[in-house]
Amino acid sequence: MNNDCIVVYESIYNRNTEKLACIMARTLGCEFIRAQEALKTDLSQYKAVGFGSGIYFGSHHPAIFEVVKNLDKTEQHIFIFSSRGAPVLGNYHDPIKKLLLEKGKKIAGEFSVRGYDETGPWVIIGGGNVGKPDEKDIKKAAKFLRNCLPQYCMPDFYEQIKTKNKVKDGFVNTYSLSINETQVILKGDIVTINQSVCKGCGKCVNICPLSVIESVKNKAVPFKELDCTLCRLCEINCRERAINLHYNWLDAIKVAVRHGKRKSL
Ligand SMILES: Cc1cc2nc3c(=O)[nH]c(=O)nc-3n(C[C@H](O)[C@H](O)[C@H](O)COP(=O)(O)O)c2cc1C
Repeated sequence: MNNDCIVVYESIYNRNTEKLACIMARTLGCEFIRAQEALKTDLSQYKAVGFGSGIYFGSHHPAIFEVVKNLDKTEQHIFIFSSRGAPVLGNYHDPIKKLLLEKGKKIAGEFSVRGYDETGPWVIIGGGNVGKPDEKDIKKAAKFLRNCLPQYCMPDFYEQIKTKNKVKDGFVNTYSLSINETQVILKGDIVTINQSVCKGCGKCVNICPLSVIESVKNKAVPFKELDCTLCRLCEINCRERAINLHYNWLDAIKVAVRHGKRKSL
């Protein structure tokens, strides 16, 4: 768990912004909390904080303003995000940005996407921005953080694996890497689990609908990763962000073929 960062959000309408908060927290490997919880949390302990919500009548949710008003003058990196109905962001971020600047905060970056909206004139056409934020927006949100706060993002060590990193330990896909002189053990090519980070909480073991993951000596191991449907429940629910799914379009098609004849779980 990355305890240097936190994401604070409100998402009262369609949970559009919650999707952004979730991917941002995953990218940073940190927690994401609602504004009410943030009011009870000492935010000065975090080096980087994200504030986001839907845009309601031209600005962020009042609860986000409440949280920002309670911030002290600690030097922190701040990012602002939102989802909105309008095609362009315009000056919707300005009010919260002004308050943050008054608090002496540095704004590391801002991010906004369109979100499903059925208010006002949109109702005539059965809603606007249908399906948004979509997968592309989610990827953009992660990329935004990797660009503006790279120092706080969780690295995906799997990208650094070379054939020589393979370890013979009885499990087919175990890799050993040396990162900043620390040994990192990864298991799995599709469902990759960082053994060095896994705390053995068992959440992924219990949540996987296909029982892909098992617990061995208090570590999660992806024994049946070829059964993985790429639902990402393990990845999303791992508090330590020890799990990363890796797949290309061919893997995705293979999943469909493999499970094509299934009639039940
Ligand atoms: C009460 C209300 C007011 C809204 N006002 C605006 C607005 O001023 N500008 C805009 O672009 N979108 C506006 N929207 C649309 C939302 O910003 C958009 O649907 C957003 O994705 C909602 O985020 P959420 O699902 O996280 O709450 C409004 C929506 C609601 C419910």
